[in-house]
Amino acid sequence: MLLDELKDTQVQVLSEIAAAATNKDINDIRVKVFGKSGVLTTLSRGMRDVAPEERPKVGAIINEVKVAIEEALSAKQAEVENAELLSKLESEKVDITEPAQGVEKGALHPIPRVIDKLCDICVGLGFSVVEGPEVESDYYNFEAMNTPKNHPSRDMQDSFFVNEEIVLRTQTSAVQGREMEVRKPPFKIVCPGKTYRNDSDATHSPVFHQLEGLVIEEGDKVSLADLKSMLTILMKRLYGEDTEIRFRPSFFPFTEPSIEVDVSCPTCHGKGCSLCKGTGMLELLGAGIVNPKVLELSGIDSKKYRGFAFGFGLDRTAMILNSIGNIKYFYKNDKRFLEQMK
Ligand code: DAH
Repeated sequence: MLLDELKDTQVQVLSEIAAAATNKDINDIRVKVFGKSGVLTTLSRGMRDVAPEERPKVGAIINEVKVAIEEALSAKQAEVENAELLSKLESEKVDITEPAQGVEKGALHPIPRVIDKLCDICVGLGFSVVEGPEVESDYYNFEAMNTPKNHPSRDMQDSFFVNEEIVLRTQTSAVQGREMEVRKPPFKIVCPGKTYRNDSDATHSPVFHQLEGLVIEEGDKVSLADLKSMLTILMKRLYGEDTEIRFRPSFFPFTEPSIEVDVSCPTCHGKGCSLCKGTGMLELLGAGIVNPKVLELSGIDSKKYRGFAFGFGLDRTAMILNSIGNIKYFYKNDKRFLEQMK
């Protein structure tokens, strides 16, 4: 009796295993057969009623059935897992021949790019980079730069005043006084940053950028020749080794003597084009030997120390380097323009 039941159970369970399709089916069968009240567990309890001499034989058969079912379950489980893996591999397949989507890359705006480039060059020449406030006192913007109230040269810079004493800085030269008050000479600094003037046309914007340079050394170590050679190096590193540089006498209240610096147009190499308005040269910057009055105003002994300074427009530099005809493009935030600048 028990033997028949065992055989029937084996046939029945093996056919259920053959029909199983998922891991859950397999687990359900396992519980149904080997669980506490599973078929085989219950049948095994029937051993109690088997005559002692029959027991080894029946025990061996129970074992055979158990092994057969376990083997079938393991084989089925491997089969199901293999099928699952195959279908996962199939659905997650990556087609490496598909065209890439492309990554949108951002880029720096041309003005900060010029600032970075110039600061790199200047740091290489031994300068430290400093910053100063854009909302500045009349004192540092003008008075400390030897430009007292009612001085005619204030007309050179049409200024935005916040009140009598506060102005949006018209020039990065305003950092000169601040730095001279706190630094002990000798020192070399450059200050890039935003500047403001009431001016607006194709080459002027009410907000624009300048870079100021200031070198203070013991008297006999600084001359106009040093300034000229420093600016020559700077311009050649910025615009290329074949750039020609021209120095012209000029006037600024904070330098004496004062010069202006022109470079050969990098677009036409001096032949004349629309960028240089046919002249072959571009006006670039103002510079000079620091007026002793400026040193004294900031507490530096003008008998012991001398300095040179230079200041130039960065928007103009960026326009020249990128052949841009109108300064307004820098401030319009037009994505099409900015993308071209990548
Ligand atoms: N601050 C002047 C301007 O904005 C430029 C300048 C000229 C700066 C001569 C200097 C300098 O340091 O020495 O027009």
